[in-house]
Amino acid sequence: MCGIVGYIGKAEAPNILIKGLRRLEYRGYDSAGIAILDEAGKMVVVKSPGKISALNEKARAEWPDALFTQAPTGIAHTRWATHGEPTENNAHPHLDESGEIALVHNGIIDNYLALRARLKDKGHHFHSETDTEVLAHLVGEFYKGDIFHAVCDALHQVEGTFGICVLATREPDRIITARRGSPIAIGVGDGESIVASDASVLLAHTQRVIYLDDNDVAIVKKDSVDIRDLDNIPVNRKIAELEMDASAAEKGGFEHFMIKEIHEQPEALSNAIRGRLDFTHGTAVLSGMGTSPRELSELGRVVMVGCGTSLHAGLVGEYAFEELADIHAEVQQAAEFRYRNPILDRRDFVVAISQSGETADTLAAVREAQQKGAFVMSLCNVVGSTIARETGRGVYLHAGPEISVASTKAFTSQVAVLLMMALKLGRGRRLSREHGLEIAKAIASIPKLVTQVLTQNAHIEELAAKYVKDEHAFYIGRGLMYPVALEGALKLKEISYIHAEGYHAAELKHGPIALISKGIPVIAVACDIPGKDKTLSNIEECRARGARILGIVTEGDTAAAARMDDFIAVPSTHHLVTPVPAVVALQLFAYHVARLRGKEIDQPRNLAKSVTVE
Ligand code: F6R
Repeated sequence: MCGIVGYIGKAEAPNILIKGLRRLEYRGYDSAGIAILDEAGKMVVVKSPGKISALNEKARAEWPDALFTQAPTGIAHTRWATHGEPTENNAHPHLDESGEIALVHNGIIDNYLALRARLKDKGHHFHSETDTEVLAHLVGEFYKGDIFHAVCDALHQVEGTFGICVLATREPDRIITARRGSPIAIGVGDGESIVASDASVLLAHTQRVIYLDDNDVAIVKKDSVDIRDLDNIPVNRKIAELEMDASAAEKGGFEHFMIKEIHEQPEALSNAIRGRLDFTHGTAVLSGMGTSPRELSELGRVVMVGCGTSLHAGLVGEYAFEELADIHAEVQQAAEFRYRNPILDRRDFVVAISQSGETADTLAAVREAQQKGAFVMSLCNVVGSTIARETGRGVYLHAGPEISVASTKAFTSQVAVLLMMALKLGRGRRLSREHGLEIAKAIASIPKLVTQVLTQNAHIEELAAKYVKDEHAFYIGRGLMYPVALEGALKLKEISYIHAEGYHAAELKHGPIALISKGIPVIAVACDIPGKDKTLSNIEECRARGARILGIVTEGDTAAAARMDDFIAVPSTHHLVTPVPAVVALQLFAYHVARLRGKEIDQPRNLAKSVTVE
């Protein structure tokens, strides 16, 4: 989603800000802009629709070279349009009426129309359709020479969500930043400070980071960070060490982040699993869950919440919890959960699944579940993310930064961690040590299984070439293969723009089969798990109507493979683990189809990596 960078330090602010924006490109955006204080203390702004490269060219054409090497302070933004089209006027930073205050903003100001009308009556002129420009003017309206107080006064009037950075010509020694519902991290460097909506931006400067909490406002100078609440009461936020490694955010010789991350999965999964399996007691060690055996035995239900790919991981989790822990388990779309007034009590174990840990609906679902007294924990990848911090207890994936918008290694790591959670819960209830050991061994084998699928990259690329011209595709599966079908279809549609739908194979007859006609591709996830034979029958129904079948089958299952026009064989394993190798085959398939179609794989149109607005 939108990205923020602010820099105050030695020099070269424009270069540093542009580099920072490039780091944020993966989040998805459609325009960008930058505001700098020049030598004369004047605010200079450049904005551009389209890519950062266009912004860079424009800045280089409009600004003197000296500005690039000497200016010590500035703020910048990548915008993902919400209010108004992605035009130059709508791009951030926005200025107040005087032109002396610049502001960049992530989030949505819900009451901006009322505020805009009020400000217009007071003589303010607006040049964009955005809610952000209203906020810039509001800050200007309150400004009496102290930008911190003006920001606090303005934010008191605002309904909605924000992560902001503000710069004022009359106070060039500071950037003001604040958050409510939209992340802000401050890098504490040596004679320089850097503010960003995504901690990966800070890595080039420092490993020392402060995460703001909701309603924190910080006065950021090059050698100090002073954090207060909206009422000017000082608050204490700890400096944490960033655990990321700068090289993890580079492509490392791969053409795209997505294919790099697909190939990183054996390592990511090893990191997710390492030290968490106990082969003596046949269980998992997940101290972050913070549960005693008694608490585990008393739980009545597992409710997972998430969106998109994380929701699909939760669907796999349902099977694992029910089978291993004999507990009712369900996954709910987080936006649906938060608004349906869910029935919860203290015996409900709510697990928020989110790679970014910032998804607005998942965060709201967490707050709703906490409000209702449920036992809430998170399963996040991004360390220090809002959901991880607000839940207080949880398990990190340790999959490393996921830069590609299309999630891959987060999904497989989520599944691995959910299996371990189910194992731990099961052992606290009725699961025997022997059965627990069997599951622990199957989980431990996951990285190797994924490596085996990755060796088929070239074969999958060849297959992709056969399907690249299709404009529709159906993915079908049953049981544990149903979430895999959903996830496979999601991967294909989001990066190749092929219309792909995932269905439960049994649902075909209830409607979708009407769409099956000669030549339509059906990707059938028919690995050898309970229910496979029924899927094979559904495949026959599709074949009878002329569909071309690409099957995902278990290695050695020649009978199943014989029913397919094409197939990818994945290694045989415990049925609960099967979704992982099966989905990796579909990730590779989607990647190669999109690549052959020449799509912008890492930044698909209209999509954002972290959806921090509803
Ligand atoms: C798809 C994808 C999205 C995310 C969804 C939730 O490839 O990445 O569907 O899974 O936006 O994001 P997180 O997991 O960060 O809450």
